[in-house]
Parts: sequence; structure tokens; C-alpha cells
Amino acid sequence: MTIEFSVKSGSPEKQRTGCVVLPIAAGRKLPRTTQAFDSANEGIIKQFLKKGDIEGECGDSAWLYPSHDTSLCDRVLLVGVGHERDVKLSDFKSINETAANAIEKSGATEAVSFLATLDARQLTLAQMVKNAVLGVTNATYQFKAYKTDVQESKRPLRKFTIAVARRKDLATAETALEQGLAISAGVAQAKDLANSPPNICNPGYLAEQAKDLETRYRKLKTDILDETELEAMGMGAFVAVSKGSAQPGKLIAMKYTGAARTAQPLVFVGKGVTFDTGGISIKPSNAMDEMKFDMGGAASVFGVIVACAELQLPVNVIGIVAAAENMPDGNASRPGDIVKTLSGQTVEILNTDAEGRLVLCDALSYVDKYKPAYVIDIATLTGACIVALGHLASGMLCNDEKLGEALKTAAKQSDDRIWELPLWDEYGETLKSNFADMANIGDRAAGTITAAIFLSRFAKDYCWAHLDIAGTAWKSGKEKGATGRPVPLLMEWILQQIDEQS
Ligand code: BES
Ligand code: MN
Ligand code: ZN
Repeated sequence: MTIEFSVKSGSPEKQRTGCVVLPIAAGRKLPRTTQAFDSANEGIIKQFLKKGDIEGECGDSAWLYPSHDTSLCDRVLLVGVGHERDVKLSDFKSINETAANAIEKSGATEAVSFLATLDARQLTLAQMVKNAVLGVTNATYQFKAYKTDVQESKRPLRKFTIAVARRKDLATAETALEQGLAISAGVAQAKDLANSPPNICNPGYLAEQAKDLETRYRKLKTDILDETELEAMGMGAFVAVSKGSAQPGKLIAMKYTGAARTAQPLVFVGKGVTFDTGGISIKPSNAMDEMKFDMGGAASVFGVIVACAELQLPVNVIGIVAAAENMPDGNASRPGDIVKTLSGQTVEILNTDAEGRLVLCDALSYVDKYKPAYVIDIATLTGACIVALGHLASGMLCNDEKLGEALKTAAKQSDDRIWELPLWDEYGETLKSNFADMANIGDRAAGTITAAIFLSRFAKDYCWAHLDIAGTAWKSGKEKGATGRPVPLLMEWILQQIDEQS
């Protein structure tokens, strides 16, 4: 069920709707719009707050049913926001999720939300509108493609209107709404692909999906290189991974041309390991199903392409997906095998479970030909990244300070967080091999960094950043599922690149 979003200006007491969403601040304080509704309705909110159902902490919510004698709306959802002035972007997203969840369970199918009228020092109107859309779509996302007994909600949320305080805010809000919708579409695309089962979502399937996008967007062109071509080109590292699978590997290039053909493109390279068994260095079976998410980087590249194409952005973006399945097999690589990469450098494969860097290194050499302005690779690359940063921040390593700073800014602005780790040469010592130019693994220590150093040796000729999303691409446990990260971060970065150019 898709929700129809819109923005409008107006006061809360004048809304003829199934549901008005109003903020309550910490200590049962009433933000300005909530106060306006209260005054027009004989103090009904203040009286209700005295009963103690809601304190105004972030995450609280309560329903109120005003009388139709004074009110045009059927119900009011009060949502706690904490201290109004100090509401952070992460709080704002979660209060919108809270609101969406409550409305989904209620009888209301439409709502007019006044949460974006908050007076919060750290939030701009554009950020609030954009993240209202992201919060609501995130909360209502479902992946039901493989369930046969889907019970459709009888009263689903169909229409969500975001109210802004002033008429003159409408233009800003409209632009932010469009961006929010496009980024949500990108996030949903990434989630859908990553959640898909690995027997369906294999390299060939990803290639088909890319071809499908080409038919949907006029400015998008897709090229697929198959395994035999990759081998002929000299991508020995990539093929060393994909040849162990019955599913042939693919290198997918999605080219979105929104600017002059001569404008240097932004290039994204996604790790698309559609299932990672570890290969001959096989993984323990515990939670191995989650290795279907090992194409989360690739999924985010699809998401970015979709969002850029939806917005028709005036920029050239190339999304590369290195798609392969890592299986143990008679044709699989062995520990000790030496392969020649597209760059000419040789690699001794000491552990076949360090396959991500093998598929990525050849893809990184390949993108040289696009003369990229920037290259960002996105990969569920190392378990060590989860040890270092947990599930809150993605790891970021880069060979260009300006790019690193821009990504950090975009991460803050989108609340899709990253943390930089150093790319110091000394960490590369342990990648030495007695038999080849380098090994594909280093010491156990600083595993995220040694993996990135390995990649950096194939990204020497352009400004490059690496995002390790091992801890952020999906959630485990009861809420198991893809997050769509880091699509919001990457879109924020792209939008900022465009702003800087103009
Ligand atoms: N896809 C895994 C990394 C991973 C593990 C991501 C768990 C998320 C959760 C990657 O291919 C891998 O197996 N990496 C190894 C590298 C090691 C062999 C140097 C790892 O992290 O253990
Ligand atoms: Mn692996
Ligand atoms: Zn992997």
C-alpha cells in the first residue's frame, strides 16, 4: 500500500481529517501549534495532560478524541518529542515512526501532521519534511513478496499530509518532500533487493533488475558484463570468487546521465555477493542465512540510482555492482591460490572468505575508464567493523580529505552515521605475501582497516572513499531485515555536490 504524501500550510484546529498529529514537549509543555489547537478546543489538551497519560518524552504517544462540537477532526494523536528546542534529527525520525505506527493501528486512514512545525535549533524545515517522509515510509515498510497469507490491514494509512507553519515555507517544503519521496523510493528498492532470498536474488537476478530499471528511466543505461567477458578482460580476482558458484558472476554498470556527457561522473561501486558461504574457508552455520545480505552494498547502489533518476538530478552517476556468489565447489578457489588482478598486481588468496575485496578490487580498477570525479565503494566487508562500531555507524576510510569531510557532513545532515578509521600505510604491513604481490588477508587486528588498505591499492588514480556497512546494512533478531542504509547518506552527499557546483 503506497501512502500519498503532501505538504500544506494551515492551523491544526482547521483540519477536517481523520487524524491530527500534534507534538507534546517534555514536562507536558505545549509547542505553539499544539497550543493553538488547545485554545480553539476549550483547553481539551491541557485537561487531558493532567490525567498523566503522556509526559512528552520522546517516544510517548496518546490518543485523544475531541468532541465534534468544537473540533473538525476525528481524533488527535499526541506525540512526545522531548525538549522542543533540542530535538535532534534521530529523535525527529523516530517520533515520525512512532506516529506512523500508531496511525496504522488506528481507524484513521489519513493524517495531517504538525510535527514539522517544531521549533528545534538543530533542524531546518527541509530536514524535517524530508525525514518525516523517511520516518513514515520506514515504519510502514513491509516485505511480503513471499508470504501467502497476507492479511491486509483494513484501515491502512493512505494519506499523510505534512503541515508547515507559514505559507512562505511551502516552496522549501515541496522540494524537501520530493527529495524525501525519491530517497524513500531508493531506500525501499535497496531493502527489497537485500531482503530477497538468495536462491532468487543471485547475480543474474541483479542484472535483470538493472535492465528493468533501464526501461523505467529514460536517462538510465545499463551494461552487463558476464563472467566469460570478465575473465577475458583479466579480472582474475573477481572470477576467483564467482567461478565457485553454479551462478555466473556479473559486473553490472548502471549509467545515469543527468548532466553534460563531458561532466565527470560520481561513481558508486557496490559489493554484490548474493550469498557468502565463505567458500572453501567455510563459515560456521550459525546465522549463515544473514549472508544473503552480503549484497547490501550493491542494493544501496541500486537505491541511489533509483533516487537520482526519480529526481532527474543534473549530475552524472554511475552505479557499478560486482555480483557474485561465494560457494564451496570443485571449481572454487583454494587457500593458497594466486590470481592476477585487472590492475596487474597478483594476490595470494589465503582465506576464501575474504571474497568481498577480491570482487571489489577488479571493479575499482575497471571504473578508472570513467575518469570519475569521485568513487565511493559500499560493502558489507568485515565482521571487524561490527566489533569496532557496532550497528550505529558505518566505517569510512578514504584517500582524500575533502571527500571524507563532505561525507561526514552528509552523514550528520542525514543521520545516517559514519565514523572514519585511518588508512595509514603501516597497517598494510600484514598484507605481505611470500609468494605474490600481496595476500588477501592481514592480521586479525584492525581487520576493517587492512581490508580497506587492500582496496586502496586498486583506487590510486582517483579520489576514493570506502564505506564498510557490515554493521549497518541489516538488522538481526526479531526485526531481521535490510535497513536501506547508506542510501540516505549517499543521496545527501550527491545533493550537496550539486549545490556546490551551482
Ligand atoms: N561478508 C563478510 C563480512 C561480514 C561478516 C559482514 C559478518 C557482516 C557480518 C566478509 O566477506 C567476510 O567474511 N569477512 C571476513 C574477513 C576475514 C576472513 C579476513 C570476516 O570479517 O571475518
Ligand atoms: Mn566472506
Ligand atoms: Zn562477504
